[in-house]
Amino acid sequence: MNDRPKKMSGGKPTEVRRSRKTPKEDKANATRMMHHKVKTARGRKIGSKLWLERQLNDPYVKEARIKGYRSRAAFKLIELDDKYKLIKRDSLIFDLGAAPGGWVQIALKRGARKVIGIDILPVEHVAGADIIKMDFMDEKAPSVLKKMLGEDPDLVLSDLAANTTGHRNTDHLKTVALVEAAAEFAMDVLKPGGHFVTKVFQGGTEGKLLQRLKDNFEYVRHAKPDSSRKGSPEIYLVAKNFKGRKKG
Ligand SMILES: C[S@@+](CC[C@H](N)C(=O)[O-])C[C@H]1O[C@@H](n2cnc3c(N)ncnc32)[C@H](O)[C@@H]1O
Repeated sequence: MNDRPKKMSGGKPTEVRRSRKTPKEDKANATRMMHHKVKTARGRKIGSKLWLERQLNDPYVKEARIKGYRSRAAFKLIELDDKYKLIKRDSLIFDLGAAPGGWVQIALKRGARKVIGIDILPVEHVAGADIIKMDFMDEKAPSVLKKMLGEDPDLVLSDLAANTTGHRNTDHLKTVALVEAAAEFAMDVLKPGGHFVTKVFQGGTEGKLLQRLKDNFEYVRHAKPDSSRKGSPEIYLVAKNFKGRKKG
C-alpha cells in the first residue's frame, strides 16, 4: 500500500481505510479498531484523560504507528503534498520545527535529495537527513542551515508550534510571532521559484501574513488537511513560486 491518501477532503485517507485480508489480520484490525476508554485514575486530570482517550482512538495515531511514522502530523504533509505537489525528486528542504521527525520521514520518502531539520528539541537521527538542535529564531540559524545544505533550499516547511502557557493572549502572541518569523526565514533563504508551507492558527493575524506571502509568492492558498483535527484552529498556508526578492 502506498502512503498517498486520495484527496484532501471527503473522508479519511486511503491508508486509514484498510482492507481486510485474512482472519488473523481481521482479528488484529478488530483489536486496533476497539474504542478505548480511559479510567480517570486518582490524580489524573480530566484534560489528560481526554487527551489520552483521543490518542488511543485516533486512526491517524494508529496508522502512524503501523507505518513507522514518528508523528500523526506525517499525514498532513502527505495530504498537502498530494494536493499541491511540493516535494520533487531531488528537492532540497528545510524543515522548521522538525521534532519528532514525521515530516522529515515523508519528505525523504517522497524523493527529497536532502532534508535539514531544526528544532529546539533533540530529534533521533533520520537516515538521509541532518537535524540540528537550535532555535530557528537564532540570528545564525539561516546561515547554519544553508551551510549544512550547501545551497539554497527549494522548499521550506514549517509545522512550528509554540509551547503553550495556558494564558490565551500570551499563547496567541507567541504563535503569531513564530509563524511570522518562519515566513521571514523562508523568504531569506528560498531559491527563486521555491515553495513555503506553514502552519497558522485561525484567529491569529493570518490576514497580514497572507498579504505578505501574496506579495512575495505567485500562488498562495489555505489548506485544512483531513488529518488536521476538526476542532483544532490550525490550518496551513501553501505559498508557491517564490518571486525571489523580499518586498515590503
Ligand atoms: C507540531 S511539532 C512538529 C511536528 C513535525 N512536523 C513532525 O511531523 O514530526 C512543532 C515543533 O516546533 C518546535 N519549535 C517550537 N518553537 C521552535 C523554535 N523557536 N525553534 C525551533 N523549533 C521550535 C517544537 O519544539 C516542536 O517540536
